[in-house]
Amino acid sequence: MEYYVGVFIFAFFLRWSSASTSFYGDTTRFVHAGCSQLNYTQNTPYQYNLNSLLASLANSASTSTFSKFTSTSASPSFPVYGYYQCRGDLSIPTCHFCVRSAITQLAPICTCSSSAAIQLRGCSIRYGNDSFLDQPDKTLIYRRCGSMSGTIRNGYEADLVGMREGVLEALVDGGQTALYKARRVGDIDGVSQCVGDQTVANCGDCVDEGVKEMRDACGGPAVTGEVYLGKCYVVYSLSSSETNGHGMKISKKEIAVIVGITTAVLALVLLLYFLGKYFARGKG
Ligand SMILES: *[C@@H]1O[C@H](CO)[C@@H](O)[C@H](O)[C@H]1NC(C)=O
Ligand SMILES: *[C@@H]1O[C@H](CO)[C@@H](O)[C@H](O)[C@H]1NC(C)=O
Repeated sequence: MEYYVGVFIFAFFLRWSSASTSFYGDTTRFVHAGCSQLNYTQNTPYQYNLNSLLASLANSASTSTFSKFTSTSASPSFPVYGYYQCRGDLSIPTCHFCVRSAITQLAPICTCSSSAAIQLRGCSIRYGNDSFLDQPDKTLIYRRCGSMSGTIRNGYEADLVGMREGVLEALVDGGQTALYKARRVGDIDGVSQCVGDQTVANCGDCVDEGVKEMRDACGGPAVTGEVYLGKCYVVYSLSSSETNGHGMKISKKEIAVIVGITTAVLALVLLLYFLGKYFARGKG
């Protein structure tokens, strides 16, 4: 009985902490994809090179959060270029899982397209027969803003806009020093991520552009904003502790403490229970 109470509490906190519309949620959730109109022909050297490229991407993601390849193994006359990029905070196993999912999700969307790209929450892949690797690319590919419905309390909208501006400033502030940046201002989490083939200077340019697009598109008190350019993206969202509607913050460390205390209390309860049984039997 006590054991089940403990398990319940544990499950409840885990659920609570993961209940979120934040981009930190499910890394394999689909964001957008695009395919070229041009198609390759089946069973051609191009397709063999592409298959080999996809295998390289999937394999490489088990050791690194970014890789780029030029696949010419079947025929050097029809090279296929490609990369994958995981978000900077992902562990290698999570990155690997995400990249494999991206390949699986892209296949039915862009069957036989000579070029294609897909963005999931945690990772992206892109391939094609034009040499886009190492080139800067600030083309707007996709953007969307969340609604302001649901959890927003009265008078909170102005704060929200202020915090969002703070995060966007923090993402462009001091220039780009890394390809991945995560910042929090108040209740807003923001992330910028560039593709690993970019210099930090090009990355900074791209993120600047992304932030401009964000201000254009999500000027109001939107709870989330996402802007995806050719070689970078900028996203923000209300932190998970706010979107759960309780306004209570609970961190992983706190969960560890709660789990620890719950476990200790359970152990004590069980110990007392067995001691009680032992002495009861001793008496009887
Ligand atoms: C490529 O294939 C897609 C889907 O099979 C088709 O809609 C499209 O028209 C094709 N493109 C060309 C240029 O034939
Ligand atoms: C890419 O492939 C398409 C279709 O096979 C072809 O028409 C196009 O010229 C190729 N582009 C490059 C840069 O090779």
